[in-house]
Amino acid sequence: MQKLSRYIYFDHSATTPVMPEVAKVVYDAMTLYFGNASEPHIFGVEAKHILENSRVSIAKAINSYADEILFTSGGTESNNIAIFGIAEAYFQKGNHIITSEIEHPAVHMPLRVLEQEGYEITYLPVDSSGMVNPQDVKNAITNKTILVTIMHANNVMGAIQPIDEIGRITRENNIIFHCDAVQSYMSAEIDVNALNVDLLSISGHKVYAPKGVGALFIRRGTKVVPQIYGGGQEKGRRSGTENIPGILGFAKATEILMSDLRERTGRVSGLRDYLKDAIMEKISDVTYNGDPVKRLPGNCNFTFKYLEGSDIVSKLDEYGIAISAGSACKSEASKASDTLLAMGICPEYARGSIRISLGFENTREEVDLLINILPEIISSLRNHYPLYKEKDGDRYFVF
Ligand SMILES: Cc1ncc(COP(=O)(O)O)c(C=O)c1O
Repeated sequence: MQKLSRYIYFDHSATTPVMPEVAKVVYDAMTLYFGNASEPHIFGVEAKHILENSRVSIAKAINSYADEILFTSGGTESNNIAIFGIAEAYFQKGNHIITSEIEHPAVHMPLRVLEQEGYEITYLPVDSSGMVNPQDVKNAITNKTILVTIMHANNVMGAIQPIDEIGRITRENNIIFHCDAVQSYMSAEIDVNALNVDLLSISGHKVYAPKGVGALFIRRGTKVVPQIYGGGQEKGRRSGTENIPGILGFAKATEILMSDLRERTGRVSGLRDYLKDAIMEKISDVTYNGDPVKRLPGNCNFTFKYLEGSDIVSKLDEYGIAISAGSACKSEASKASDTLLAMGICPEYARGSIRISLGFENTREEVDLLINILPEIISSLRNHYPLYKEKDGDRYFVF
């Protein structure tokens, strides 16, 4: 097998490269429009102008009002503000929160903290394709429920949840609904009114903008107690000097991606299906995880029986191809993904999972290179895997 002469990036669910047009405006904002948006002089006024125009761009992308957009440092902060902010604001009404078993740690960890403080959290199961059943949300609601938080698209296997149906249920029951849309923003159309969500988290670095910027949509009339205090920026809801370069980059990336969202996502999902079909055909003992249709355009998640996902990642890395063994923040640990376990995949097999996440700059040629080398890598790893045995045409996995 030949080593590749250049690197190929297939880990867009972890992060994306900044688009050159975006890097250009970020640079300009850092060097030319560097004023503090709270100051009244020309530098401050320019910065404020950029800030408010960027807010309009983000709002337009999700069909909200500009004053419903709160800029943050990213998806993790948006989720934390939403969860702690609602829990604090509505604690007199109740202490029950509904979520799913497959949320990102940026939702699960704040919920664990609330659990320690006496909140009751219901973790809804998913089916074998990774979908939450809206009926389960309805059944879990009690007179103490103050918040439902369910992600739009899963970061591990890409399933897109029936957020509009869940939103209808929360609306009918007068319960606040938060949605972590970090993975789906700019990969699926998002209309906060059609989805019936009250809060929605998004992040810049997943959409070809810099790291360290994100936003939280907060529907007018939704009370959220601030979690960061200081100079009163963002109308007192999130203090701290605004990250104008990051915010401008986030808005610019949004404008570029929104201009041909359907065409781009259609092309990426076509490439994704081409890759999926080839792998399923050329390699044995492999399953494709997550709903095959309702999923992120770039996400492919496979389980290769009798292997460790981290070994496949390392081997591909030697050949210059970057993929992930799970979700980014967990890939250093050789541990089965909680999401895949929640879908009922047995732990021994779930460990042999990889995520290949394509972006719009990937080409058919790059995908073909992966298709050409992966079967050989899988077969060579299986031949050397100590727990894998083959006898008389049958395969055994010695647990
Ligand atoms: C679904 C989901 N939510 C939240 C986050 C955290 O976002 P950020 O890295 O911007 O803090 C991620 C990042 O991987 C994610 O995939």
